[in-house]
Amino acid sequence: MAGTEIVELAKRRGFFFGSNGAYGGTAGFYTFGPQGAALKRNVEEAWRDRFTVAEGNQEIEAPTVMPEPVFEASGHLDGFDDMLVECAECGESHRADHLVEDATSIEDAEALPGSEVELLIRDHDIACPSCGTPLAGQDVEDFNLMFATDIGPGDSQPGYLRPETAQGIFVEFPRLKEYARGRLPFGVTQIGAAYRNEISPRGGLLRLREFTQAELEQFIHPEDDEPPLWKVADVEVLLYPADEQEAEDGDYVETTVGEAVEEGIVGSAWVGYYLGVAQEWYERVGVDMDRFRFRQHLPGERAHYAADCWDAESEVDGDWIEIAGFSYRADYDLSKHGEYGDDAFTVFQRYDEPKTVERATVDPDMATLGPEFGGRAAAVAEALEDLAARDPDAFEADAVSVEVDGETVSVDADVANFSVEEVTENGEHVTPHVVEPSFGVGRTVQTLLAHAYRVDEVDGEERSYLSLEPELAPTDAAVFPLVTNEETLVETARSVANDLREQGLSVAYDDSGSIGRRYRRQDEVGTPFCVTVDRDGLEGDGPDTVTVRERDTAAQVRVPVDGLADALAPLLAGEDSFEAFLDEYETVDSDVETQ
Ligand code: GAP
Repeated sequence: MAGTEIVELAKRRGFFFGSNGAYGGTAGFYTFGPQGAALKRNVEEAWRDRFTVAEGNQEIEAPTVMPEPVFEASGHLDGFDDMLVECAECGESHRADHLVEDATSIEDAEALPGSEVELLIRDHDIACPSCGTPLAGQDVEDFNLMFATDIGPGDSQPGYLRPETAQGIFVEFPRLKEYARGRLPFGVTQIGAAYRNEISPRGGLLRLREFTQAELEQFIHPEDDEPPLWKVADVEVLLYPADEQEAEDGDYVETTVGEAVEEGIVGSAWVGYYLGVAQEWYERVGVDMDRFRFRQHLPGERAHYAADCWDAESEVDGDWIEIAGFSYRADYDLSKHGEYGDDAFTVFQRYDEPKTVERATVDPDMATLGPEFGGRAAAVAEALEDLAARDPDAFEADAVSVEVDGETVSVDADVANFSVEEVTENGEHVTPHVVEPSFGVGRTVQTLLAHAYRVDEVDGEERSYLSLEPELAPTDAAVFPLVTNEETLVETARSVANDLREQGLSVAYDDSGSIGRRYRRQDEVGTPFCVTVDRDGLEGDGPDTVTVRERDTAAQVRVPVDGLADALAPLLAGEDSFEAFLDEYETVDSDVETQ
């Protein structure tokens, strides 16, 4: 099914559609309809269940607007740019690197300097995709993707909508480490909106200006902490490492997570661990594993903060799309916020046994420094302390030089009072490293729709349906009266629907049109079970029963009304399959479909 067809189907069936249609639409913004909002919520819930709850992590919710200094520190103000080229004729903006990639065999034009991209546009006669005018001679500029805003009226503070949820976690690290009682490793998650002023939004939910991320920041000791790799060591993965992508006859590597880490294909055991967890999670939520891979970023492709990165990619309509990234961010973020912020972005790690170490120290004679350096005396003393810690040998000379306010000043070694003491240390301040699995929720939703779409034939008629995992489907069950002109059936069906709702199921009730048509409507939005109230079920000698029809097979069984929610629960949780129902309950002829 083509990408544009999924977007059309999503609109028709109430999953998602372009926002603000009544005002001409706003590119890059999508509204989730009733089906889509429920599916998205279920994706988020399944993610929370695996990456927050099962991992023992903590979830937070931070504001989406953050002040400018945060993004000076994070590097987004300087480095979060895409290459923009504008058409002189129609004024349309385009991603210059994408145009070059489409017109040449270059795979990561993003890594090239703008001047080279300008030459490629000229040499390959690349034209504006909107109006066909050649783009040769147009400047390629860096365009910062952050949405700017003002915080407060009057002398307002410049701020930005966060381009990744991650920053809301990093800036709160000084408090979050306290909640973790200062113990590494610990993980913090967040699910929420991120904003990027994309040059050319496209592909439904694939490239939006506002989108939802589900991110986990795993804080680890750079040397000491190991992940529980054994839990996923046997998980089979399809990897596409950077060197294979660059080699002429490069190929995929089919291996297990354990082997990939052991052989150094995946450089970090933590990244390997989360690739394994993610592979299992994507399978659980219904991504087709024959259309799924992990691709390592090429060196020029990595974000400014990433030391290594692997993307989870799904195949949709012949294209591979990035649905999640797994970055080794090292100490980049915490060091930067430590440099720019006023708080401690380190963790004190207590040693198992206290250690006796030699510590170089100074005790400057302030009675001499004061008259000599005036108001700068304290800064000179501080610079001497730093120097003693960094380079104790410097104090072997008669005088030492330090830099204060950009000026080099000389201090007699006697005045510095340098000494080396033996001290007992109980631990050390460590800047944790960060491993970050970062998932795009919208891209996952679009992948699930694309991979779940099926067409087959039921009772001689073609039908299309969404084979969504029951755990993820927007609606758990639909309830119908078989015919709508019998009051008892209608009343019982309404009461069955209400009972199921009271027991926590999301239930649709439908009594309009033929029963066959009603089944089709639910098949189209992926409802896994349809419950039909018919006369046979109410008139027998035993307890009342209903038919339960499974979406993919259209097979039906007769199940007692009493306890129906409990019977469906393991199927909806993905803990059991409909096979169990077929074994346990009487099967019913599917001719009910066409009545
Ligand atoms: N904190 C790391 C980070 O933001 P990213 O690769 O830029 O990394 C993570 O984004 C995920 O967010 C991507 O894998 C993708 O699924 C999703 N994403 C990124 N930009 C997006 C956009 N403009 N529209 C929709 N989803 C996007």
